[in-house]
Amino acid sequence: TQYDFGLIGLGVMGRNFILNVADHGFSAFGYDLDREKVDALKEEGGDLNRVDATQDLATFVQALGSPRKIMLLVPAGKIVDQVIDQLLPHLDQGDIIIDGGNSFFTDTDRRDAYLSEKGIHFFGSGVSGGAKGARRGPSIMPGGNREAYEHVRPIFEAVAAKFQGEPCVAYLGPKSAGNYVKMVHNGIEYAMMQLTSEVYDLLHRGAGLSNDELHQVFDSWNKGRLQSFLVEITAEIFLKEDELGNGRLVDMILDKAKQKGTGKWTSQNAMDLGIPVPTIDMAVSMREISALKADREKADALYSHPEMPALDKEELISLSEQALYFAFIISYTQGLHQLAVASKEYGYELNLSQIAKIWRAGCIIRAGLLADIAEAFEAKPELENLLLAPGFVEKVQGTLDAVRKTAQLAIAGGIAMPGLLTTISYFDAFSSGRLPLNLIQAQRDHFGSHTYERTDREGIFHTEW
Ligand code: 6PG
Repeated sequence: TQYDFGLIGLGVMGRNFILNVADHGFSAFGYDLDREKVDALKEEGGDLNRVDATQDLATFVQALGSPRKIMLLVPAGKIVDQVIDQLLPHLDQGDIIIDGGNSFFTDTDRRDAYLSEKGIHFFGSGVSGGAKGARRGPSIMPGGNREAYEHVRPIFEAVAAKFQGEPCVAYLGPKSAGNYVKMVHNGIEYAMMQLTSEVYDLLHRGAGLSNDELHQVFDSWNKGRLQSFLVEITAEIFLKEDELGNGRLVDMILDKAKQKGTGKWTSQNAMDLGIPVPTIDMAVSMREISALKADREKADALYSHPEMPALDKEELISLSEQALYFAFIISYTQGLHQLAVASKEYGYELNLSQIAKIWRAGCIIRAGLLADIAEAFEAKPELENLLLAPGFVEKVQGTLDAVRKTAQLAIAGGIAMPGLLTTISYFDAFSSGRLPLNLIQAQRDHFGSHTYERTDREGIFHTEW
């Protein structure tokens, strides 16, 4: 038999993805150098009769029907290039390689150019949703050759998460469009996680909410307009007992956050494009600050800390809900703004409404809000900044008093909420028709004759200050 789909890299993600493919009636063949992983897949997939695996690359490639559709779920970086080079001698023109990892988008462009010269189609495809998503339905973000996508489409549409029956996958654009969109997805993910942790801190340290109370708060938020995967799992996290018997696990986890680079790449590239995404930047910075644990502890002892003003718990919960809703909106706003500009810069021709739609289920940043966001971009495809979408003015406006109060409380109480503070400042700056940067222009001209423009007439001016 000729198998419909091949997958290289049978770690948890790979194994789950292949089983998901097989669940939907496609035959799938796996390859991994590691004997144990090959055996694990054979065992789990045995009942389905459509799954097999091997440690031999030639056997793997020969088993696949034409054009071959081979997905790589291996760590991003050099390994992807190595696997591609091992595969190449075995492939035929028209075969398709899909990179399902978090590859850096310029790597994808390089691989795409290299492979298309050889007549091989390459798809950088972001896959979001973790191990569970891979098994039960991820959100998939593919980019590459549009015609070749038709060969992959039936499989991707079958395995992807469904939102009201619609598959959370779509052809996004040429070359690295898919990896780029996934990168920004992760930047938004970083921002939302940072904001969630800040609100947790305010409620827990600031107002003394217990883990049980926090569970209730997040659980009730998840039933309202904050409904989202991250709020849902946060509610769950507060209930988990430590298996070593120290109470709740969350309290035993070291407060140093790791990162694999996708959030940082989002910020770096936003800088290159000249697009402000300060909430994402701050989320990356906070992971870096969190890593400075030893110095933080020293500084903690050196400085005094203010008392939190006395607060009504219920009021603080309501303020926090509004602040989080506001900041979630702005996190998407910044990420989508970056996508709008990157689309022009790199020729992706992204459809932002479609992207919001395929994020509605399966992925880490899925949230009820995305349905509204998809609508806003559908109504106005040329929209770049969600804050200018008519439907969002009311949503944002309604939260502002609460956001400002929350920010004031954080500052008064010495609770670090840099994600929220930077978000409100971004909003205040973006919604200011006049900023004080006239002064910066004056300074530049003063010390360096860098010239300035005027408010009242056209032209370039310089003054001998
Ligand atoms: C997803 C996640 C996934 C990965 C994160 C973790 O969409 O399923 O984003 O890709 O778990 O990239 O990233 P960090 O290790 O950098 O936090």
